[in-house]
Amino acid sequence: MSRIAVVPGSFDPITLGHLDVIERAAGIFDQIHVLVVHNPGKTALLPIAQRVSLIEQAVREGGLPSNILVTSWSVGLLVDYCTDVGASVIVKGIRSQVDVAYETPMAIVNRDLAGVETVFMLPSPAHAHVSSSLVRQVASLGGDVTPYVPGVVANYLQTPRTE
Ligand code: PNS
Repeated sequence: MSRIAVVPGSFDPITLGHLDVIERAAGIFDQIHVLVVHNPGKTALLPIAQRVSLIEQAVREGGLPSNILVTSWSVGLLVDYCTDVGASVIVKGIRSQVDVAYETPMAIVNRDLAGVETVFMLPSPAHAHVSSSLVRQVASLGGDVTPYVPGVVANYLQTPRTE
């Protein structure tokens, strides 16, 4: 049986910490679906389609395994997507106790709703301080984000846009 795991998140934008977790998950599960989900609790910087495109490019340029699919979901619960594609596991990266406290209720609700288990995965300590919100703030104030994000994301954020 092919085991599918979903790695969901806002990915606004994807960071090196996210990419590390995706790569580790791809080494454990048969297929990984990286799922960009709108989080209504957060003010978005990038359109969803742009986030998907940047993740696809980062996965390719990073030489990550080919069992990684990148897509988005906006029409219901995360577990609805999991059920639709036959995924029994959600993978979440955990940097600290703060992440454990944030993720635990969602993991329990997702299991209650649809029997989907959540696996917490530890990224490299090198990325423990990196978050998308930090990257958004540094980029918006003209700082260098290259230590925190894949090259394609740094290029995108640091290229002036007119829109
Ligand atoms: O990267 P984020 O913003 O921490 O990701 C949170 C996300 C998008 C995975 C979470 O908000 C989510 O699962 N949203 C989908 C809606 C849903 O299923 N909500 C119930 C989860 S308990």
